[in-house]
Amino acid sequence: MMNQKINLSEIRNEYLKGDLNEKEMHHDPIVQFGRWMDEVLRMGVHEPTAMLLATAGRNLQPTSRVVLLKDYDSEGFIFFTNYESTKGKQIAENPFVSATFFWKEVERQVHIHGKAVPVESSLSDEYFHARPYESRLGALVSAQSRKISDRKELETKFEELSRIFRNQKIPRPKNWGGYKIFPDSVEFWQGRSNRLHDRFLYETDEFQTWKISRLSP
Ligand SMILES: Cc1cc2nc3c(=O)[nH]c(=O)nc-3n(C[C@H](O)[C@H](O)[C@H](O)COP(=O)(O)O)c2cc1C
Repeated sequence: MMNQKINLSEIRNEYLKGDLNEKEMHHDPIVQFGRWMDEVLRMGVHEPTAMLLATAGRNLQPTSRVVLLKDYDSEGFIFFTNYESTKGKQIAENPFVSATFFWKEVERQVHIHGKAVPVESSLSDEYFHARPYESRLGALVSAQSRKISDRKELETKFEELSRIFRNQKIPRPKNWGGYKIFPDSVEFWQGRSNRLHDRFLYETDEFQTWKISRLSP
């Protein structure tokens, strides 16, 4: 017997976990992001660094997928991936991306728009060599986003490379590395009751100073 389909339109949640006040927000969105990230890290929310990264190449068809934020600094947000993957090819054609965090435990969303630029190879090397042995081998094995015949193909290559690199340093594949997203806008969203959510948008002006606007929910 078929399970009865649940009517999704009847799922409703009120967002009551907090509010957002412009006076309490830092004038620099990356500092403000850091405050929110610290809070969710302290609370132990699940996958706090997971962000939905959207890219669109020359054909303008948007594609999105989850990647992990691995660092951020006063310039922007860093993640690591395969430069020859679908996202890597799209970024090479069009560097403008968006990245979205959703922290459901605190009913918050952060939405970043900006330009993704490959990081210096020394930083990619540093991060690559700090990864566990199996993750390094996995990066070497995977031609990310290419079609493959079956799982066995991956497992055979993994075993083969683990024999070759036994007791040896695994080199970083040249097609694997980081990007930094230099933001030109960042929006902070806090869920509120009656769908009257708080939204603040930071945008840079021609002098590279940040301007904050409240947006209608
Ligand atoms: C929780 C989570 C974390 C992920 N982290 C990364 C990551 O940091 N880097 C990455 O390249 N892919 C990561 N992935 C896999 C991507 O979502 C995606 O499948 C892969 O990068 C290929 O994407 P593309 O074909 O659009 O380039 C992650 C997936 C999940 C669900």
